[in-house]
Amino acid sequence: MTADFHKAPKAWAQVKHSILGNYLSLFLGKLGLSGRPVYYVDGFAGPGRLEDGSKGSPLIAAELAVSPKQKSRQGILQCINVEDVLETFQNLEAATDPYVKLKRVRNFHGTFQQKLPEILSAIGDNTAFFFIDPFGTEGVEVDTLQRIASRRGKTEILVRYDDTRVKRLLSWAVNNEDSFDEGHRKTAKAFKSRVEHLTDEKAAGIMGVPESQALIDGYVRKVKSVAPLRFSLSYPIRNPETKGHRYFLVHFCNFPDGYIHMANFMARVDRSVEGVGGDDMFAKPQMEFMVVNEHIAGQKRKEMVKAVSDRLGSLWVERGWSRIQNRDLFAGIVDEFGWSVLRSEYVEALRNLQKEGLITLEGTEDNNFTTFH
Ligand SMILES: C[S@@+](CC[C@H](N)C(=O)[O-])C[C@H]1O[C@@H](n2cnc3c(N)ncnc32)[C@H](O)[C@@H]1O
Repeated sequence: MTADFHKAPKAWAQVKHSILGNYLSLFLGKLGLSGRPVYYVDGFAGPGRLEDGSKGSPLIAAELAVSPKQKSRQGILQCINVEDVLETFQNLEAATDPYVKLKRVRNFHGTFQQKLPEILSAIGDNTAFFFIDPFGTEGVEVDTLQRIASRRGKTEILVRYDDTRVKRLLSWAVNNEDSFDEGHRKTAKAFKSRVEHLTDEKAAGIMGVPESQALIDGYVRKVKSVAPLRFSLSYPIRNPETKGHRYFLVHFCNFPDGYIHMANFMARVDRSVEGVGGDDMFAKPQMEFMVVNEHIAGQKRKEMVKAVSDRLGSLWVERGWSRIQNRDLFAGIVDEFGWSVLRSEYVEALRNLQKEGLITLEGTEDNNFTTFH
């Protein structure tokens, strides 16, 4: 991939950056509390800044490291970037230079796979967030995630999963596995074994070529079966202008807090993409959330509040909840609704249930408890 790709800002890249930036800020706020270093590892960093001046992921993270939302988190976030293409790496070095001088950023030239052992030893058992954002599928293999997640210390991973590319590999393999041409048969076999690193047998074994959702579900199942990552969310990134599907962003973590807050950020972005229509929200300053169509937003809100209230009516019995900490209750709701519900909506649903005397909500923070009667 040439550096030319990085010239134009892509509307969907702003959707990705919005989720990443907002989540990282919260991640730093929550997990930087102890005062120990927290690492951000950008395995496929890109140039840092696009030619139009908009920020890429390494700059979003670097700025957070220097100017976190809470002043007390200053000096906590350490950023490590990896970029393989020399020209792009040089641009990355130039874009992040002030942060390198401040010792907030380190840039590695090479492939993420090559640099991973060095990175793992540099971060030790400190909390770390990995962003795996390649063009294509190289770097997102199940075994790579297993290597990352097997480290000591809290680990979260955000992955770009290019389902279209996986489908293409599989479709080529399916169409050519019985070819008369030996070369084609060999390539088909190689593609099939490549797919084994990108989804599970159940998904790949579906007759013909599976749907994106089946592939991504297979990927998540396979990652979870080999790595200690309990929670995951898959969000389809679309172009806010055309609504065309690009790829999935998949988040893996081991703690309910990461799961519930990531779901909320994905939900907020999704409402913006939906509610704004052909508007240019994502061309405006990044990380802003504006829902232009208030009416549609209000309708959707009512619908979701009702859906959550209705579901909770039986969910608490199915789950055996009596007095439960909110972070576990919220995670249970996210298990059901994923990124289609906003945190403010399920909190409203819970408040309504409290008014009806069905529950006692001791507060709405993650640490508070709720009792079902
Ligand atoms: C999608 S771009 C990254 C965009 C960036 N994460 C952002 O959000 O601003 C992927 C980058 O990974 C680089 N790359 C490709 N293969 C790589 C590898 N094996 N290891 C590290 N970087 C690689 C490409 O040169 C490209 O700049």
